[in-house]
Amino acid sequence: MSTGDPRHARRKLLLDELGLTPLWRARAAGRPEAVDIRPTAIEDSAVQTGSRQADTSHVDVLKERRAEILRMGWEQLQASVAGCVACPLCESRSRTVFGVGDPNADWLCVGEGPGAQEDATGEPFVGPAGHLLDNMLAAIDLKRGRNVFITNIVKCRPPGNREPAPDEADRCEPYLARQIELIRPKLIIALGKTAASNLLHTNASLSSLRGRLHQYLDIPVIVTYHPAYLLRNLPAKAMVWEDLCFARSTMTTLLQLEN
Ligand code: URA
Repeated sequence: MSTGDPRHARRKLLLDELGLTPLWRARAAGRPEAVDIRPTAIEDSAVQTGSRQADTSHVDVLKERRAEILRMGWEQLQASVAGCVACPLCESRSRTVFGVGDPNADWLCVGEGPGAQEDATGEPFVGPAGHLLDNMLAAIDLKRGRNVFITNIVKCRPPGNREPAPDEADRCEPYLARQIELIRPKLIIALGKTAASNLLHTNASLSSLRGRLHQYLDIPVIVTYHPAYLLRNLPAKAMVWEDLCFARSTMTTLLQLEN
């Protein structure tokens, strides 16, 4: 999608010239909202309502909700997340976890969803995986709260730390989309498979997504392992180090291109 912003057009042109053209591209921002399109779900719904019209209006409601979120300012967005009841995760959460850091950051890290400690504190990545993320950031001279924003695909804790269901991720998607629009990061780091799949709309394996530049709209995306995976698989550290070096050199290039 073209944002119409000449800076984005310039960045894309220069990235293309440098051979950093992505292999995967997120669908346009107008991506339809999460609707259960499985035939059985539609049939059940049609039987329940006696008409397919109800389905169409459900889609319209979701589209309108998304459009409304995409018009929000930062504080309104925070309030909307805090009061969100769009999916069943709201029933078991203690607190929503909007994200933390600099809303004008160049770097955006996206994880999967809050865990127990995040649910209790309202801040992302504060448990053991969070400490590891802080160390990963330090390795490339970044610090939580300084030129980096950290958030998740879903803003409420999935019970038992399970992966967010597709419908839950889809209901939360407009929030992340608006965060990205407002932050306008120069580079996004997708932490783990859930973040990568949802940002890039691919089911490709994480290992196949690593080491290449992807794009979310016109923002470069680099994929690496989730810190929680690293905690269980120490040998993956070397690969994460490679990914971080790639991220750092990409940012250096992006900053050079802007000057
Ligand atoms: N894992 C995540 O993906 N996000 C958090 O906020 C914490 C753990």
